[in-house]
Amino acid sequence: ARKIIIDTDPGQDDAVAILLALASPELEVLGLSIVAGNVPLALTARNALKICELAGRADLPVYAGCDRPLKRPLVTAEEVHGKSGLDGVELPEPQMALQPQHAVDFLIETLRREAPGTVTLVPIGPLTNIATAFARAPEIVDRVQEIVLMGGAYFEVGNITPTAEFNIYVDPEAADLVFKSGAPLTVLPLDVTHKALTSRDWIEGMRKLGRLGQAVASWTDFFERYDKEKYGSKGAPLHDPCTIGYLLRPDFFAGRFINVVIETQGEFTSGMTVADWWRVTGRPANANFIRDIDRDRFYELLTDRLTLLDSE
Ligand code: BDR
Ligand code: CA
Repeated sequence: ARKIIIDTDPGQDDAVAILLALASPELEVLGLSIVAGNVPLALTARNALKICELAGRADLPVYAGCDRPLKRPLVTAEEVHGKSGLDGVELPEPQMALQPQHAVDFLIETLRREAPGTVTLVPIGPLTNIATAFARAPEIVDRVQEIVLMGGAYFEVGNITPTAEFNIYVDPEAADLVFKSGAPLTVLPLDVTHKALTSRDWIEGMRKLGRLGQAVASWTDFFERYDKEKYGSKGAPLHDPCTIGYLLRPDFFAGRFINVVIETQGEFTSGMTVADWWRVTGRPANANFIRDIDRDRFYELLTDRLTLLDSE
């Protein structure tokens, strides 16, 4: 199985991504590294523990990481995810504990320990933990198999400012470091995640499953209301699960190897992923920038895997 570390700020869509990964025998989740993002770190960390317990995986190591961006105050998204970050269903207070180690140390140690080119990083929140690990131990960058991240937007513009997507906007300096790192990078921006919308049928199907399916249905119901009201969209974009979907079935996705740089200075454009889709700059490609998804097959896969996990 392919070894991955999910770096996350759960989040309802983060939760579905984690569950999809845990349900997939092709992937071995080495641990979760937690970052501040959708809500402050204490809450994202607690949410991660709840998700592990819901999945019956109290054994999975969870590490709390950076509680604020490299150079800026934290921006959160309670209006999208609710006060807890995981509103929609009440889950019991977690019994399992966080690991004592800091997430950045976990990232560094794991990449040093495992054979080079065998660990994939899956960041689905702001890039603070990953950037801090790369800055502190630059030699680990070459040991990363691939980074498959959710973040950015180009044709689909922004969701937190007119030009920026949330994960990149929260910590543009961290994103800049990661995009310049030279590690192989696959990016799932809003351009693709806004094509991965839930449908009523899918949510109702989830609700008919057991405890896990019902939680997924309630989370997506809660999550959906925001995009429906704000953008008039037909369903909820399952942003973060697209990363795991890509790892499982890259053939469901299509993009281009292009140059992507992060705007860190712009008065109006801070956090923008400037994607050279038409290759007009001559700058070398540093990212596989995904733009399309076979939405129906992705949702079939998600249903199959979550059904399996729910019956365990
Ligand atoms: C991203 O921001 C968060 O709110 C979601 O979990 C996702 O990672 C979408 O812009
Ligand atoms: Ca997220």
